[in-house]
Amino acid sequence: MKLIAPSILSADGSRLGEEITAIEKAGADWIHIDVMDGTFVPNITMGPAIISSLRKVTKLPFDVHLMIADPDRYVESFFKAGADIITVHVEASTHLHRTVELIKSFGAKAGVSLNPATSLDQIAEIIHYIDLLLIMTVNPGFGGQQFIGTSLAKIARAKKMLVTMPHQPLLEVDGGVNLKNIGDIAQAGADVIVAGAAVFGSEDYPKTITALKTNANSTLA
Ligand code: DX5
Ligand code: ZN
Repeated sequence: MKLIAPSILSADGSRLGEEITAIEKAGADWIHIDVMDGTFVPNITMGPAIISSLRKVTKLPFDVHLMIADPDRYVESFFKAGADIITVHVEASTHLHRTVELIKSFGAKAGVSLNPATSLDQIAEIIHYIDLLLIMTVNPGFGGQQFIGTSLAKIARAKKMLVTMPHQPLLEVDGGVNLKNIGDIAQAGADVIVAGAAVFGSEDYPKTITALKTNANSTLA
């Protein structure tokens, strides 16, 4: 079964707790939380204090996607705020192995993310140490962008690399996912699929999340 991780970037910011409760009831598997610092990406979102408050409203895994420069500085804060999975960008960490080991030292799952223009070659060494690989299928910074078409082949190539690993890291896909393309993304090998605008821009969360899951799982043999 493919997992659906709605991104609260596109939720109503004045009612984040209620929005999380609503998507949990609607069948969300993980809560995807986009952290942006205005340096690594041209946008600013939320930090550990808000995540810590949100931690009280659900037990679903918090999948924290750090789009911040030099992420080592904040790993402990995000772990203490309640992150279950902490994902950093290969483009943002100078000593990526150290960052990944730091995340795992707290007991969190460690993810590594690649921007659309970053080659899979960049994870050749770190793949042995990660719990999750996050492939960005838009340029990070904003919700509601269009899926970059050539990403499908990249997802398939990433899956081929991951399945050779004895510890089977998960493959997550983030950006521009909708009801139409989620089947292809799932078939290409994604295990966890992020959806922001597709969920929070819809009228009926249960209907949308059910349809995303149906389309993601219908292509499976
Ligand atoms: C983009 C974020 C994504 C984004 C996804 O920088 O990492 O998680 O919120 O939003 P949609 O699904 O609307 O592209
Ligand atoms: Zn994200």
